Amino acid sequence: MKRSLTLLVLAAGISTGAHAQKFDGLAATPQMGWNSWNTFACNINEQLIRDTADAMVKLGLKDAGYQYVNIDDCWHGKRDERGVIQPDAERFPSGMKALADYVHSKGLKLGIYSDAGATTCGGRPGSRGHEYQDAITYAAWGVDYVKYDWCDSKGLNSVGAYTTMRDAIRSAGRPMLFSMCEWGDSKPWEWAAGVGHSWRTTGDIYPCWDCEFSHGSWSSLGVLRILDKQAGLRKYAGPGHWNDMDMLEVGMGMTEDEDRAHFAIWAMMASPLILGNDLRSMPEPTRRILSNKDVIAVSQDKLGVQAWRFMASGSLEYWAKPMADGEWALMVLNRGEHAVALNYDWKAHQISDDLSKREADFKKTTFNWIDVWSGKLGDTSKKLDAKIAPHSVLLLRLKARG
Ligand code: GLA
Repeated sequence: MKRSLTLLVLAAGISTGAHAQKFDGLAATPQMGWNSWNTFACNINEQLIRDTADAMVKLGLKDAGYQYVNIDDCWHGKRDERGVIQPDAERFPSGMKALADYVHSKGLKLGIYSDAGATTCGGRPGSRGHEYQDAITYAAWGVDYVKYDWCDSKGLNSVGAYTTMRDAIRSAGRPMLFSMCEWGDSKPWEWAAGVGHSWRTTGDIYPCWDCEFSHGSWSSLGVLRILDKQAGLRKYAGPGHWNDMDMLEVGMGMTEDEDRAHFAIWAMMASPLILGNDLRSMPEPTRRILSNKDVIAVSQDKLGVQAWRFMASGSLEYWAKPMADGEWALMVLNRGEHAVALNYDWKAHQISDDLSKREADFKKTTFNWIDVWSGKLGDTSKKLDAKIAPHSVLLLRLKARG
């Protein structure tokens, strides 16, 4: 009797997905794609999603590595009488399955958005109490990515709520990348490596260099403010579980130098690269920034180690990222308002990383470098002479001489 009871309990556990694991093999490198929120907020529809998928292919962004086309908040209609969530019939008249089929036909993947609470941040139906039903619905539509927000979460336990959705996704059976968006409130880096493929580390981003924009009870943060909140988090990130610094604001009103710096910082920090601009009307300089193959290689390096700041002096910060095959990336960030002339002696600065146990000793080894923005080449046997404009970065990729 006791044995059959145990079996029953075990069977129930399996069928509800208890002890489930997240899907492995997703986000082996930080996910790359686009999301509707930063530009369009609630003003979205199926045509926009189709056009964005088209643009992603046409502009070479798919070839550059961008893969996910993510619908953020406000796609929802109501739940039907059985509780099944329906898309907004006016904005998404063809339904989500048709949209997923279209996005897939372009060789891309579709992402969707929900919330752990009963309502989303935009006041639409959230997944609370419908987690398994929603995961099954998304899987049936052919969704590949679920961003899961944290509005209306009063009384919810974040570990429980996110683990429930992870289990729901697992038992729905379709590999869907699980992008956790609880803003770093409960330190997800400490507990979520087995739950999500990425977790937001902060509140929302704002397209400015170093400002905070108040919404009353909360504020969104500029690029440097978000960067500064990453202190101490690098050890928690790695293949399949990334610190998410929020979606990109490249092409959203900052200067070109700031856009380049923002993109480089996100790549160095191995944050997901989720575009937030309108791809249908993207100016060429923005397109060039977002498809820079060296910056993307830094982001997508398979070692999956986040950069760290190894030195700071005046307005400059020096960041290093160890990469696979003995490569390194080095970023010099000028946070300040004035250009700074650099005369950097490589040999005086050995770089040594406690986390990855990698080191670069420029006295012993000479590295060739390429400046990813200008294409300029050089090597570490000579001092590095450069002028770093305000609000900009110098980003170099280093390869040991063979
Ligand atoms: C929160 C999230 C944003 C976005 C909006 C949608 O603010 O952090 O990324 O998804 O909700 O309402």
